[in-house]
Amino acid sequence: MATITETGPITTHRHGDVLVVTSNNPPVNALGAAVRQGLVAAIEEAEGDEAIKAVVIRCEGQTFFAGADITEFGKPPVMPWLPTVVDTIENCTKPVVAAIHGTALGGGLEVALASHYRVAVPDAKFGVPEVKLGLLPGAGGTQRLPRVAGVEQALQMTTSGAMIGAKQAHDMGLVDRIVEGELQQHAVAFAEEVRDIRPLPKSSERQDKVEAADPGVFAEFRKANARKFRGFEAPEKNIQAVEAAVAKPYAEGVIDERRLFMELMTGAQARAQQYFFFAERKAAKIENIPEDTQPRSVKKVGVIGAGTMGGGISMNFLSAGIPVTIVEMTQEALDRGTGVMRKNYEATASKGRMTSEQVEKAMGILSPTLDFDALKDCDLIIEAVFEQMEIKKEIFGRLDKTVKKGAILASNTSYLNIDEIAASTSRPEDVVGLHFFSPANVMKLLEIVRGAKTAPDVLVTAMGLAKKIKKVAVVAGVCHGFIGNRMLMPRQVEATKLLLEGATPEQIDRVHVEFGMPMGPFQMADLAGVDIGWHRDPNRIENIRDALCAIDRWGQKKGAGFYDYDERRRPTPSPVVQQIIEDFAKKQGVERREISDQEIVERTLYTMVNEGAKILEEGMAQRASDIDVVWVYGYGWPVYRGGPMFWADTEGLDTIVEGLKRQEERMGSDFSFSKLLLDKAERGEKFTR
Ligand code: 3HC
Repeated sequence: MATITETGPITTHRHGDVLVVTSNNPPVNALGAAVRQGLVAAIEEAEGDEAIKAVVIRCEGQTFFAGADITEFGKPPVMPWLPTVVDTIENCTKPVVAAIHGTALGGGLEVALASHYRVAVPDAKFGVPEVKLGLLPGAGGTQRLPRVAGVEQALQMTTSGAMIGAKQAHDMGLVDRIVEGELQQHAVAFAEEVRDIRPLPKSSERQDKVEAADPGVFAEFRKANARKFRGFEAPEKNIQAVEAAVAKPYAEGVIDERRLFMELMTGAQARAQQYFFFAERKAAKIENIPEDTQPRSVKKVGVIGAGTMGGGISMNFLSAGIPVTIVEMTQEALDRGTGVMRKNYEATASKGRMTSEQVEKAMGILSPTLDFDALKDCDLIIEAVFEQMEIKKEIFGRLDKTVKKGAILASNTSYLNIDEIAASTSRPEDVVGLHFFSPANVMKLLEIVRGAKTAPDVLVTAMGLAKKIKKVAVVAGVCHGFIGNRMLMPRQVEATKLLLEGATPEQIDRVHVEFGMPMGPFQMADLAGVDIGWHRDPNRIENIRDALCAIDRWGQKKGAGFYDYDERRRPTPSPVVQQIIEDFAKKQGVERREISDQEIVERTLYTMVNEGAKILEEGMAQRASDIDVVWVYGYGWPVYRGGPMFWADTEGLDTIVEGLKRQEERMGSDFSFSKLLLDKAERGEKFTR
């Protein structure tokens, strides 16, 4: 074994007559310029040496190539392009074997597809996540993948960006052999086995799977996924590229692929989605703590409250294999809560996303109890009870007396002051907010609320745990509603006022849905429950919401809220609600007029940007991109618009300020400008870079 070529991150060495090409480009072996140049040089080296009979391409470190280097996007291209690299690999006259571990993603999978053979370890994963960056696989992937894996699989993989495991990849023909043990050794042995087989199997030349495709598959696929793809440009272009693979010879299909790729690459959605990729990763970085802060060990979690939130929160830890002790006040509440958890798990299993053994395993590490003292040896305790300061303080006081030293005491409060809660203990440094979003077992967002005294290692532990339970966490400061719910407030206030002034719930919701939100403010109110936070006195009617609650219009659960619902929960506008709105307007002397869609955007979305700017200037968010992460993962802000702060930057902060100035008088004392927004607009700056 001797190293014969050394070109930056790519090195080569010989194993007998096999040339082993190794990439070492941490952290994820992204296919940056030096890697691409090295790969081409390595293939040339193999071609130029008669003693070499086959080639193995492998990677050092945690993973096989995880794709193109995203940091190069938008910069002047450096040759060779990835399409040239993959063609060079496929056109090598000696068999090339890709040896895959970790994740072969995007351009990485395209390198593997261009190789003549693919061997992988059992836990390797495969995917083309370009769609999540607003793109499509642009190095022949949309043409080779359907030829190798089949058209339906290619459609599924390119439009979802989801990863598949080695076994599934093997079953669909994407992997030739799964090998246990030392990958390089197996790959070299495999290369020896196939070294004399000719012609070389080239993915681009395979026709059997594309010829077998049912031509109706595309229309069906579009129809079945219309809702999921709504607003996004990339899924449709991925479909068109796969369609080209079926309709055209490879050489023409790749030309279509390139055109579609460039259309996406130069568009606004790809820019937003690529920004968001890095925003999400940046959110994990906690500012103003010593770099070497070590996390505390969390082996056992306690949850107080087995209601919807407590149950959902517990499921996250159970699914990650962390035992949970859940405490309730009454046996009935405890049984109801654990029953719901089991039902949720079983529903997941019935969809094939979990086995019944996994359900039993998760439920098997849950310890339901009425005994508060059972929490004493937990490493992290999350309180998820009624949203009332006095109750929370009492619980934290009790925890302080009960649980072991060094345990983390967390509250799932969505609005309340963590510092006040922490002050009811003798260890405020151990107290933190962990604000999960409902349904807590599904929603990806976690706000980690950093109190004035929260210890750095508590924050680091929370961030690490978030990753373990597959959440995306954002650090927020202590303020009413933290980041997400605080920004919801001005939207709600203005949306309600707009109703009185002449807009309808349907109009306001339509504007939000057309913008790309999953639903508008009134659809959301109906889903969550109009009665949330209601004073429960049907005789006290001070606003539209009170009036709806008083006549039992509590939302979808009652079949009526801001909308009427049929038995299949389909909404229709309600004349009753319209009358209530008009009566209120009259009573309050509000003059009704035609409201434009633009006014709705300015009063409900621009105001959110303004609130986001206040959050930023008060230091309640670490960075503007964190606010975007909260809104994309917590509230379904369309990722193709990047998030509210990125969107504001794309609109232009001067446009936002102008719009708000237009509405300032109408919004009255409910509104005040963020100084940061005004300053940035004035200076022509942006929130995000
Ligand atoms: N390019 C540049 N940097 C990348 C990168 C990429 N493709 N993928 C990951 N990174 C960086 C991250 O930004 C992060 O940097 P940081 O430490 O400075 O924050 C670091 O690598 C580690 O990434 P993660 O924190 O995400 O590490 P994980 O271990 O959690 O996940 C992963 C690893 C599954 C590989 C994940 O990083 C990932 O999904 N990466 C993106 C893969 C992708 O989208 N590939 C397609 C690229 S587009 C393409 O290939 C176009 C082609 O078709 C022409």
